[in-house]
Amino acid sequence: MTISANIKIAVLGLGHVGLPTALGLAELGWPVVGADDDQAKARRIAQGEAPFYEPGMAELLQRQLGSGRFQVAGSVPDAVQQGTILFVCVGTPLGADGRVDLSQVESVARTIARNLNGYKLIVEKSTTPVRTAEQFHRTIARYSNGQHPFDVAVNPEFLREGTALQDFFHPDRVVLGVATPEARQMLLQIYQPLLERMAASGNGSAASKGSSPLMVTDLNTAELIKHSANAFLALKISFINLIADFCEATGADVTEVARGIGMDPRIGPAFLRAGAGYGGYCLPKDLKAFVRIAEEHGVDFSLLNEVGRINDARAERIVQRLRHATWVIKGKTVAVWGLAFKPHTDDVRDAPSLRIVSRLREEGASLRLHDPWAMEQFRRDFPDQPPRLVYCPSPENAAEGADALVILTEWPEYLKADLARLRESMAAPIIVDGRNLMDPAAVRALGFDYYGIGRP
Ligand SMILES: NC(=O)c1ccc[n+]([C@@H]2O[C@H](COP(=O)([O-])OP(=O)(O)OC[C@H]3O[C@@H](n4cnc5c(N)ncnc54)[C@H](O)[C@@H]3O)[C@@H](O)[C@H]2O)c1
Repeated sequence: MTISANIKIAVLGLGHVGLPTALGLAELGWPVVGADDDQAKARRIAQGEAPFYEPGMAELLQRQLGSGRFQVAGSVPDAVQQGTILFVCVGTPLGADGRVDLSQVESVARTIARNLNGYKLIVEKSTTPVRTAEQFHRTIARYSNGQHPFDVAVNPEFLREGTALQDFFHPDRVVLGVATPEARQMLLQIYQPLLERMAASGNGSAASKGSSPLMVTDLNTAELIKHSANAFLALKISFINLIADFCEATGADVTEVARGIGMDPRIGPAFLRAGAGYGGYCLPKDLKAFVRIAEEHGVDFSLLNEVGRINDARAERIVQRLRHATWVIKGKTVAVWGLAFKPHTDDVRDAPSLRIVSRLREEGASLRLHDPWAMEQFRRDFPDQPPRLVYCPSPENAAEGADALVILTEWPEYLKADLARLRESMAAPIIVDGRNLMDPAAVRALGFDYYGIGRP
């Protein structure tokens, strides 16, 4: 087939991956139509309202709606019919049986099949277990009338919430899993403006070193790259958390150990921050899914089961730390700073805060919660229940009258708090720092009992 200059991109699923992808591609100059089967969400986006917090997103959405390069379709079938290249960005949650629940992917495959009206390249961007693209292809073929040719490709997404747009425009790598020369050529064409932009700015990490961040491979390898990357990142965090426990037992300092080992280029300094454990929509579910699919293919990944188990135990460790600090948790008022699974997002999916807040309630504490962006999301799981559970307008307000302060997200604004005043306003000056955000010496000098993670 010949590659048309009149490419139109359709992005199916406008969530944390789909919306940045759609807006990023529009910013690169491509005409993009987005669609989501959550009609309320699609309407909000069409009206210029970002449905979640992501730095720079609201402004980019306004700009691209204004430019006319990004539009929201009236329905998913409409977007499928308009698009030549379809990016599938729907959710892939964990099912009750420990396998990935691929119902959103399968449903979108059937919608695509029924609305094929010419050649389409269908790009799986959602994180899926190896061999999903093959099944995806079979499903579209089965439900379509066979009149229109199509290709399936895999383009896993590596963006991080909180820096999603930065990651879109300056990716470490762009992995393209393709099965045909046409798919390869079309995807290279789509990413060409990005590569040129990176080369011009010299800003992309790979481009600035003179190499292209593009990697073209087959479908199964592309799917495995994404799952392997997340499994390795989870492993790094659980590893440093175990080292933190060892540091606590021996009086060593995990932040120094992390710095010392991170200077080795074979290890690297990133993702070596000990704390309350990893969370979010990717690492916990992707790790479990990866282990499961590996087992189904006869590969024993008990190593990664252990990574998950270590992470699950982090929440209880924070509770134990608080018990140690307060002696008895029951009847105490505990301030919690940070609910999002990481800073610069309002996402609380699988956040450690969910488990820790739940445990503190079981222990009989009254909670005063604060997060700069994530309180609305957190309320869905934990509605207001004064005086047992209240959401506070500022970190200082949350700490007022509290017997202890627990830090669960390393929002930079928490470093700006006036700690001397904070100490005066608290009933007892106890800080349990689940993210090693504070400087222990400075905090202790102000008279706080300070408990970090893996630091003497
Ligand atoms: N969130 C991240 O940081 C991140 C990073 C890399 C990869 N991923 C992967 O990307 C995928 C999407 O993740 P997300 O965080 O954007 O999820 P999300 O829940 O924020 O967004 C998914 C969107 O798809 C929509 N949707 C569901 N079924 C649909 C259908 N049939 N047609 C059209 N829209 C439909 C939902 O309404 C929702 O808006 C997942 O596979 C995830 O593992 C996520």
